[in-house]
Amino acid sequence: MVLRRAVRKLQLAISAVALAAAATAGQAGDVNNDVNFTSDVIYQIMTDRFYDGDTANNPSGSLYSLGCADLKKYCGGDWAGIAQKITDGYLTDMGVTALWISQPVENVFAVAPTAAGDTSYHGFWARDFKRTNPIFGSMADFDNLISVAHAAGIKVVIDFAPNHTSPSREGDPLYMEDGVLNDDGTFVASLNSDLSGAFYHNGGTNFSTYEDGIYRGLFDLADFNHQNGTIDGYLKDAINLWLDKGIDGIRVDAVKHMPFGWTKVWMNSTLEHRPVFAFGEWFLGDGEVDPLNHKYANESGMSLLDFRFGNAIRSALKFGTSDWNDFHGVIADTASAYNEVIDQVTFIDNHDMSRFHSVGADPRRTDMALAVTLTSRGTPVVYYGTEQYMTGDNDPTNRGFMTSFDKTTRGYQIVQKLAGLRQVNKALAYGDTEQRWINGDIYVYEREYAGSVVLVAINRALAGSTNITGLFTSLPAGVYQDELAGLLDGNAVTVNANGSVDAFDLAAGEVAVWHKVGASSAPVIGHVGPMMTRAGQTITINGEGFGAVPGSAQVGGVAGTVVSWSDDQVKLQLPSVTPGFHSVTVNGSAGYTGLEVLTNSQVSVRFVVNNATTVVGQNVYLTGGVHELSNWTATNSGSIGPFFNQVVHQYPSWYQDVSVPAGQTIEFKFVKIDGLGNVVWEGGSNHIFTAPASGTMEVNVNWQN
Ligand code: NOJ
Ligand code: NOJ
Ligand code: CA
Repeated sequence: MVLRRAVRKLQLAISAVALAAAATAGQAGDVNNDVNFTSDVIYQIMTDRFYDGDTANNPSGSLYSLGCADLKKYCGGDWAGIAQKITDGYLTDMGVTALWISQPVENVFAVAPTAAGDTSYHGFWARDFKRTNPIFGSMADFDNLISVAHAAGIKVVIDFAPNHTSPSREGDPLYMEDGVLNDDGTFVASLNSDLSGAFYHNGGTNFSTYEDGIYRGLFDLADFNHQNGTIDGYLKDAINLWLDKGIDGIRVDAVKHMPFGWTKVWMNSTLEHRPVFAFGEWFLGDGEVDPLNHKYANESGMSLLDFRFGNAIRSALKFGTSDWNDFHGVIADTASAYNEVIDQVTFIDNHDMSRFHSVGADPRRTDMALAVTLTSRGTPVVYYGTEQYMTGDNDPTNRGFMTSFDKTTRGYQIVQKLAGLRQVNKALAYGDTEQRWINGDIYVYEREYAGSVVLVAINRALAGSTNITGLFTSLPAGVYQDELAGLLDGNAVTVNANGSVDAFDLAAGEVAVWHKVGASSAPVIGHVGPMMTRAGQTITINGEGFGAVPGSAQVGGVAGTVVSWSDDQVKLQLPSVTPGFHSVTVNGSAGYTGLEVLTNSQVSVRFVVNNATTVVGQNVYLTGGVHELSNWTATNSGSIGPFFNQVVHQYPSWYQDVSVPAGQTIEFKFVKIDGLGNVVWEGGSNHIFTAPASGTMEVNVNWQN
């Protein structure tokens, strides 16, 4: 105990030093923790548009545009350029601790025969997922980027688009490259040479239903059939190749457009190869709320880009179409809709929407949005050039070539200060969000975790100050300086012993950030990753007060095997527990809930049931005798479904691709459930099948009356 206290004291002294350093820039991140990004700030780079570090790899002819005059062409940016911007200090001094770069794989070289002459500069038109895009660099260049980034304390996240290859047309094999897929140079299939069914041939989606968006193509992009064993294996092997290169995370494109079950299988395979942070793109329009999006974030094994947050902050600060009450409503609702809201990835703009700053707008709006995002729950992304106030309302003007690398802009300094604070004060990484003072223009919110507190106050009005009275905080008594050092006009505040804050003025456009790093000698868990695992796999538990001496960490009340132990991090090999959702505890701490323990490694099985006629309002669901099939739960929220009946099979046949434990013999039945929850069970005895040890399978049965 005495020893533990001494260690704790030493740690406090160390964190005080770290604290002092935070005001300066360049806090390195922890590149050894690839499952916890909550202290990181991710900087999103369109590789082609950032910096040309090697003109020798630039393409010629109609693929290339000198000076990036034509934004549909390649403009020369590459991995060598990104590495140079790490070593010259631009990225490290800004304090970003992760980069999200364009999909690195070989893309089509064909130019679209459209007026615009579109090219694959964005990286979303793959032709070989096992080779590099040579216009971004060679494998040696990629390796170099990873090692330069890691040496600087920066993680690397790659974009990855396993939904599709490239633009193609049925019956027109000469169109571009016919959506070809190669395996390290060897032809696998193309849309019009597809003997094995590598692709779907169901036309393009009109986005009318979830099913339509999955089993028809996204735009004209050749759409993978993930139940095809070759494609399933190929996409698992391909990501393993990049994992073996040392990437730290994956941004997964278009997850709404792939079968939920298959993406869960792919995530399981990925995490078993090497656990990394993954976040999917499930696009939501302004104000859109989709329960399927929440379910995806909670049960797929990956996080999501937080479009609800992004849309809400754009409405409040860019467009002025909503106010802080609406914004806080989203913060409050997402805190419960997402099981792990701190793992969702926040942003204010990206390559698929207008840039936050626009011509003629007051840059203070961007400054405020950056400050709020970098102090809010979730892992924040800064889109390249936002710190330089780049503009552009549409694709491709929102993907312009990086205009400057000026380290003195206010935007750059805001990121610098707050990225540093995220490394130092764990309330930003792990804390909940409490609204402390609010009206349409004023928002004062507090993040708190294990005695650490960050208090943020913002006045979004661009004219007129407001006197703030009656504010309370969890900050201990004292005088607190603005962590942004007045960059956005913040001042010091005085906190009294009862937590009241002396009245102060919040000027127009002001943002102030006050904080205190606390310490807990009792164990408190802040984060667990990955949140989908199985017996024998290792999870990383971060928090405070675990003690220097190894103790006991448990999953579902069963002690696991300690792999490593320190006061703020425990690596735990999972014990065997009943498959299902469990909580994690360290030395008797409060439980960190929602860890999904799978029965086994997963495989994708397509279940088809024929002759299942229903009345209006009824849908068909699946349930069965394993956790993955809901352990015989027959409800519309618990069972697997609703099943589909339009595209691949049509009513009265129903189908769905489901993640199930490999090699298991499983009993199952279908149920019909209506909107009120009334259940009609299939008659007869249970169906039974044995899932394959690897690869995919189809199970096709008739409904039993
Ligand atoms: C979403 C990406 O972000 C977008 O830019 C891309 O065109 C589509 N998915 C297809 O990959
Ligand atoms: C309850 C259902 O009523 C039955 O039909 C099903 O077979 C069993 N659960 C599972 O054994
Ligand atoms: Ca180049």
